[in-house]
Amino acid sequence: MQKLVIHGGKPLCGEINISGAKNAALPTLCASLLTNDTLKLRNVPDLKDVSTMLSLLKQMGVSILANDQSETELSAVHLTNPTAPYEMVKTMRAAILVLGPLLAHKGEAMISLPGGCAIGLRPVDQHIKGLQAMGAEIMIEHGYIHAKAKKLTGTRIVMDIVTVTGTENLMMAASLASGVTILENAAREPEIVDLAQCLIKMGAKIEGAGTDIITIQGVKALHGCTHDVMPDRIETGTFLTAVTASSGEIHLKGVRADTLDAVIDKLLEAGAIINSGENWIHLNMNKPPKSVNLRTAPYPAFPTDMQAQFMVLNSVADGTAIITETIFENRFMHVQELKRMNANITVEGNTAIVHGIPRLDGAGVMATDLRASASLVIAGLIAQGETVIDRIYHLDRGYERIEEKLSQLGAQIERIN
Ligand code: EPU
Repeated sequence: MQKLVIHGGKPLCGEINISGAKNAALPTLCASLLTNDTLKLRNVPDLKDVSTMLSLLKQMGVSILANDQSETELSAVHLTNPTAPYEMVKTMRAAILVLGPLLAHKGEAMISLPGGCAIGLRPVDQHIKGLQAMGAEIMIEHGYIHAKAKKLTGTRIVMDIVTVTGTENLMMAASLASGVTILENAAREPEIVDLAQCLIKMGAKIEGAGTDIITIQGVKALHGCTHDVMPDRIETGTFLTAVTASSGEIHLKGVRADTLDAVIDKLLEAGAIINSGENWIHLNMNKPPKSVNLRTAPYPAFPTDMQAQFMVLNSVADGTAIITETIFENRFMHVQELKRMNANITVEGNTAIVHGIPRLDGAGVMATDLRASASLVIAGLIAQGETVIDRIYHLDRGYERIEEKLSQLGAQIERIN
């Protein structure tokens, strides 16, 4: 098993490019299931989750016509096996995103029910409820969701909770339904807007993506298109937080600052000086950080996917911070590991109280999920001495060439077997 060895304590300084967004690439790859034409995606990040999704689509019969230099071309014209097996869904829950497109275009889907997950229960009841409202017949058999529909019918769907992949699944399904679907209490994440833009280029009629009411007028068929996946706002936020925690300076290219308002506000509050333009962000931190309270919530509020990274920032900040996690019920797994590095954190229910200390100590730690891994990398970069992070396969699911990018910023980081 691979590990990362980090010698920390130096400010991070330099310039890097941000990759395409994992959470935008995954649903847009699934949009290829909605058409018999070729879908060409650019700025696709080279990540484990992306290769898992490509393997899943391939075993269904989707042809991957090209897959290099961040360009991927897919064709579902010969799709024969509309099944997502347990072996794949258990390693990547985003596999549920094939359900809506398969049902809408092929009339049938067999998708393994995702089991529990390190960060929370993560049920998919809203995906199922929405598709049933559109007329799908859904049975849960032997751990699989077996869904059938001759033709989905547009309807009004009020989601009980705000769900990102739930909104994406229903938006894709509704694109080929007969009549109008209105999704209420929809998620407003930028990745949903990115998917909607791709679907619109494919011929879909969608209005309101990015607001909590999305209206989709179903069309008979969708066609191919070329689409550029948006920049990864969580990778961007992770680098900005790492540099703020290390009191360094960074210039990020290929980014969209407008998707990071809540994160940038908190970094400003911590003391960073930030300037941004159309596709760049410059951050300079010339003093130790101040503590910042935060509460995670659906977009445009502070993202749960940045909570762990801010836990580390607060652990070396001046003051005490209160961090409340409202999206996932078990997303504080990094706390025990950070405590091994001397962090002073107390957890009560969904709230963590972080008392800042002058510096963390390097230690051996274990990654538990993707964003927890990112937080441990930041901790290692600012800690005194050596940190060895085990189980870094979690990190490879969502951060492209992370050691290379951090080395560009002057970090001493090495992957060992
Ligand atoms: N939920 C339900 N029922 C459902 C769907 C969701 O109860 O049918 C609950 C979940 O258990 C959770 C909350 O609703 O408590 C929100 O979950 P959501 O469905 O929005 O999460 P997701 O779509 O499974 C996406 C991202 C996650 C990100 C969350 C929240 C993708 C592929 N994944 O997950 O990304 O944390 O939205 O923003 O888009 C990550 O990249 O590290 C990651 C976990």
